Amino acid sequence: MTLDALINEYAAKNPASRKAYEKACNDIPGGISANVKYFAPFPLFMKEGHGAWLTDVDSHSYVDYVLSYGPLILGHGRTEILTSIEQYFAEHGTMLYGTPHELEDIFARKIKEHFPGIEMLRYTNSGTEATLLCIRTACAFTGKYKIAKFEGHYHGGFNEVLVSVNPDVTKAGDARHPIGLPESAGISDRMLNDTVVLPFNDLEACTEILTKQQDEIAAVIMEPVFGGTIPATPEFMQGIRDITKKLGILMIIDEVKTGFRVTLGGAQEYYHVAPDLTALGKVIGAGFPVGIVGGRRDILSMASPKGSDILDSSNISASAAEVLYHSGTYNGHPMILNAGLKTIEILEQEFDALLARTERLKSGIRELYAKHGIHVLTPGLGSMFNVVVTELDAIETYRDLQKSDFETRKKMDYALLLNGIYNKPCNRYNMSTAHTDDVIDFTLEAYEKAFRLL
Ligand SMILES: Cc1ncc(COP(=O)(O)O)c(C=O)c1O
Repeated sequence: MTLDALINEYAAKNPASRKAYEKACNDIPGGISANVKYFAPFPLFMKEGHGAWLTDVDSHSYVDYVLSYGPLILGHGRTEILTSIEQYFAEHGTMLYGTPHELEDIFARKIKEHFPGIEMLRYTNSGTEATLLCIRTACAFTGKYKIAKFEGHYHGGFNEVLVSVNPDVTKAGDARHPIGLPESAGISDRMLNDTVVLPFNDLEACTEILTKQQDEIAAVIMEPVFGGTIPATPEFMQGIRDITKKLGILMIIDEVKTGFRVTLGGAQEYYHVAPDLTALGKVIGAGFPVGIVGGRRDILSMASPKGSDILDSSNISASAAEVLYHSGTYNGHPMILNAGLKTIEILEQEFDALLARTERLKSGIRELYAKHGIHVLTPGLGSMFNVVVTELDAIETYRDLQKSDFETRKKMDYALLLNGIYNKPCNRYNMSTAHTDDVIDFTLEAYEKAFRLL
């Protein structure tokens, strides 16, 4: 079947989703609450989730490999998490104190146990807020105002990092000296100029670019496993640590995807590299909104208010500009920290089994593609991977990924959607502890059916 025929079949099979989408488009731009949630001709509207499974408004069931783009590492609605939430409210009564509470520090100590590079931390409400605060922190600490990010890497939806996330390589300049391209309307040339774009896994070129602009660049921010797909090489990771230290540039590892997914101590544990700052999100919130900025004590201490309060007009403090401002009504939300803590405790018991099942699924997928004469790679680390249809033996950069056969992968994804496997076309695979061997068997059988359909 052609891609168009598969998409037509998908549309015909999902009339209730189509109707819900068309209605939503009247009220919500694009019918979606986050731009990444769209795929053609319309996304599925879900109504229930249990374990590894999602059910859509047409009452089709799917094994879910999106898992809300990563957070649901225990699957949908894990009983212990639901119970811990009920218990929390039964014991404590309120949703929110609006004051410090002890769980903030208990959770902080649990994070520090797994991330020894984190000496202090602050809570945010999302990964985006965490990377944003990392960047302001780096600027405050170094007194420099540019940042460097890698071509292809995603760090959330704000101006400094909405640069060259998915650039057209024909317009993005030389692979070793990429040009920064905007990824949103509303980004000025001045903002673009403040974000330097680096080539991933090319230490020599990065060293040259960083050295030239060392007096202006506050920090290098990176996804250690780009897109959940392409891991940094160990030499590259260590090399970036060494060169940033040498040049007085901070290293920020964005572990929003990789934290508690690559290992319990994130990619920094896997690579044995301690960054200056770490951003966390997704898994640590058990499916609720959360983020963390963690890092060196001397850097994070800058957020201590030292008597300044910018919202207290009786206290016009001369020290405000010396303090790193960070605030938020919902920061350190007790119900979320409680559910996140339970999630980490469960993962401490079940992580190894999760990794073993991820490897089983990856090798099963590779074997099936090979049986049908198609060469694929399943790159990624830990409980996250991708399926890349490519002639290459290894992929190391955004530009390698761009050379892959997206058409075949997309056809497979629509054929899988028609056979009970949910992934956004061309998205990475996230695994959960609810993806048991039975679920993997179902998935591999669905792959067989999808190949027959193609
Ligand atoms: C590496 C990375 N950083 C930051 C973010 C932004 O996190 P959030 O969507 O929670 O704002 C994401 C989201 O996918 C991410 O993958």
